[in-house]
Amino acid sequence: MDEGTCISTTPEIRVLLVDDHERDLRNLSRLLSSWNYSVETAFDGEEACQKLADYPADIMLTDLVMPRIDGFELLRRLHAQDEGPIPIVVTAFTDMAADTTRDLGAFCYLPKPVEPKDLRELLERASAQRRSGRDGGIVLEMGDRGAVADMVGTTPEMQKIFALLNKVAPSCASVLITGESGTGKELVARAIHSLSPRRAGPFVAINCAGFPEGLVESELFGHEKGAFTGAVERRPGCLELANGGTLLLDEIGELPIQTQAKLLRVLEDSRVRRIGGKSEIQLDVRILAATNRNTEQIVRSGHFRQDLYYRLNVFHIQLPPLRERKGDLPVLCEALLASLNRKHERHVTEIHPDVLECFAQYGWPGNVRELRNVLESAVILVGEGMLTTEHLPVKFARGPCVRESSGFQEPSKPAHAKDGVVALPFGTTVEEAEKALIQFTLQHTHNNKSRAAKILGISPKTLHCKIKQYRMQSETVGA
Ligand SMILES: Nc1ncnc2c1ncn2[C@@H]1O[C@H](COP(=O)(O)OP(=O)(O)OP(=O)(O)O)[C@@H](O)[C@H]1O
Ligand SMILES: [Mg+2]
Repeated sequence: MDEGTCISTTPEIRVLLVDDHERDLRNLSRLLSSWNYSVETAFDGEEACQKLADYPADIMLTDLVMPRIDGFELLRRLHAQDEGPIPIVVTAFTDMAADTTRDLGAFCYLPKPVEPKDLRELLERASAQRRSGRDGGIVLEMGDRGAVADMVGTTPEMQKIFALLNKVAPSCASVLITGESGTGKELVARAIHSLSPRRAGPFVAINCAGFPEGLVESELFGHEKGAFTGAVERRPGCLELANGGTLLLDEIGELPIQTQAKLLRVLEDSRVRRIGGKSEIQLDVRILAATNRNTEQIVRSGHFRQDLYYRLNVFHIQLPPLRERKGDLPVLCEALLASLNRKHERHVTEIHPDVLECFAQYGWPGNVRELRNVLESAVILVGEGMLTTEHLPVKFARGPCVRESSGFQEPSKPAHAKDGVVALPFGTTVEEAEKALIQFTLQHTHNNKSRAAKILGISPKTLHCKIKQYRMQSETVGA
């Protein structure tokens, strides 16, 4: 990672707006300028092509139905070029737009009338993609209800996942999504749904581990009034609710073995009967399943039926843990920061490079969810401006971390520093403790060495020697 690189959410991004409705154009232009985008406008595709010759737009927002050169032709021409703006289609004809424009390389489409919140989020994601310099780094689709199922990642590991997603999503095949907790399994399931022809249908998720014994069947299959004690009214099950759409069976590894047999039968027959019901309901549901368990192992141990496993595992998407794709940290931070700023109405615009270094050193057992939580508390703490290491939880404290010319080095036993206290774990050597203490004091005195020496009770000369001895460079301790 480059020293001194900050992540900023407010660089100059150039947007070209193309629409033959003058009022829409004016309103959008005003809105985007108020969000600090540089904006140019064009009344149709022909004018857009002319403008693009002098105005290297990063993003182009275009209508589809326009005189002279329409949106489709405009997309076709841009698609044929290697470089050009990221195209986003804004249209009232979302069905037509979804299929055609994706083939023409459109990043996303946005239904008219445009919802400013959706537009802003979309522009931020497209900007993040443009700045990451790798097109295709983001899979993003606006669902018909305006929900955004998005994932970011530029590492080869995530590119492979995106390629698989794009291939698998349009079919109706079952997909088994595995990966450690917090790696984005549910996000993948939502992305599959919103990239599929079923996107207009419902997306229903059921957590198979979330019900007391016996109740999971009623949740899955539904029940009639009086079917069992407590069934005070008729309730449709998740399979029925997902009819015409997609059902995610989350934590499938926790499904009781006897329910597995019933579920398999329903899936094979494409018909379900509510508990206590007489008639069967025809089903047209795409099934996705997710688990953080080792599926092959639970099949081998007899806790999961092999036949159901084969039925669910037509395609397999295995999400890599975050520690194996740390190259995604900058884009993930940027995307999460933008969404958390919106959620909490904060304006944290930058992440200090030291934060990214700390993140790169960390193991992320809780994966992207843990990253999101860390950023969320930091965003609330900071409020606006730059997020620095001071806003990170204790586990990131960099007491004895030493930056050397070859890069960042972390000792095996990190000290924890927070609220004016430095905590040293059992097993710390005297040398490590001294290093940590000096660094901690220098941080607190904003690198004022004579003050630090006074606090430490040593002479400035001794402090100078120690800094040299421990190869602490002045920027290491600069606040
Ligand atoms: N590639 C990604 N890009 C952006 N956000 C992500 C990505 N992967 C995960 N997230 C975010 O991380 C959080 C956890 O994701 P998700 O709930 O999909 O994980 P999960 O694998 O289903 O976890 P669990 O096994 O605990 O249910 C969510 O806030 C999600 O938005
Ligand atoms: Mg989940």
